[in-house]
Amino acid sequence: MMALGSVHFATALLAFLTSVQAVPFSSKLHKKTALVLIDIQNDFITGSLNNSRAPSILPKVYQLLDDHEWPFIVASQDWHPENHVSFAANHPGKAAFEAVNVTFVDTPTKIETQTLYPDHCVPETFGAQIESGVQTRLHYLEGYRTPVNYIKKAQDHSVDSYSAFADNQYHRFTTLNSELTVHGIETIVVTGLITNACVRGTCIDGIKLGYEVILVEDATETTSDAIKQTTIAELEGWGVQVMNLSSWEAANPTGIQRRSFTEL
Ligand SMILES: *[C@@H]1O[C@H](CO)[C@@H](O)[C@H](O)[C@H]1NC(C)=O
Ligand SMILES: *[C@@H]1O[C@H](CO)[C@@H](O)[C@H](O)[C@H]1NC(C)=O
Ligand SMILES: *[C@@H]1O[C@H](CO)[C@@H](O)[C@H](O)[C@H]1NC(C)=O
Repeated sequence: MMALGSVHFATALLAFLTSVQAVPFSSKLHKKTALVLIDIQNDFITGSLNNSRAPSILPKVYQLLDDHEWPFIVASQDWHPENHVSFAANHPGKAAFEAVNVTFVDTPTKIETQTLYPDHCVPETFGAQIESGVQTRLHYLEGYRTPVNYIKKAQDHSVDSYSAFADNQYHRFTTLNSELTVHGIETIVVTGLITNACVRGTCIDGIKLGYEVILVEDATETTSDAIKQTTIAELEGWGVQVMNLSSWEAANPTGIQRRSFTEL
């Protein structure tokens, strides 16, 4: 009788384990893949560096947040002190979109050309904040189950930082590479603003650091289609995979039904 009882128990246990395994916890997760949101900040959409094409990315970014489950999400923000080297106001006689040559922080014999901009993304201003639809979704996800890392970049007044991985002189790296490593990330899906500056820098550094880099082309924008296409061609040359959201979703099915975010 004891032996028969053990067999029944073993059979029941096996059935239980099999039923558990049939519904893996992570079936909806894009494994080893991080969503990277570059500088989706008010200043690049409605503020001092607004451009009319930028708002078109928002529905695509919302869809990536609403319809997909990520093991890790990164949101970068330009985060400039008021005396930042990229602000035209800090270079007497210079106007926005002109350039200056600046000396490398750690190599005085080297110079780089710095494009100048209107003041933008100063901490504690509305322009520095992440666009509210994106930020609300991030707060929801991080309060629920998804780790979100905010990279506040270009805080050093003397050197700009387009890439979310490092400044333009590779003088100092952010925590992004180590955070991706800790989370076991192999692929980054990149979106955001603007294509030919911070998105470009992040994609190239992602390739240099050995990640598979996917740029979702309808979830990134810049000031003109010509500039966007030139940048995409350059990034494809680096090995970045450029695809639109519907193609990427078709290649990466998750089985998630679209959730309603009517409460937002
Ligand atoms: C939006 O961009 C235009 C063109 O660069 C600029 O003149 C305008 O001041 C910007 N708007 C705001 C609110 O800064
Ligand atoms: C920066 O330096 C380069 C190379 O010396 C030079 O061609 C360029 O005119 C300089 N640009 C500015 C804005 O001074
Ligand atoms: C997305 O890319 C695919 C493949 O290149 C193309 O067939 C499709 O029309 C594109 N969709 C959009 C919305 O651009």
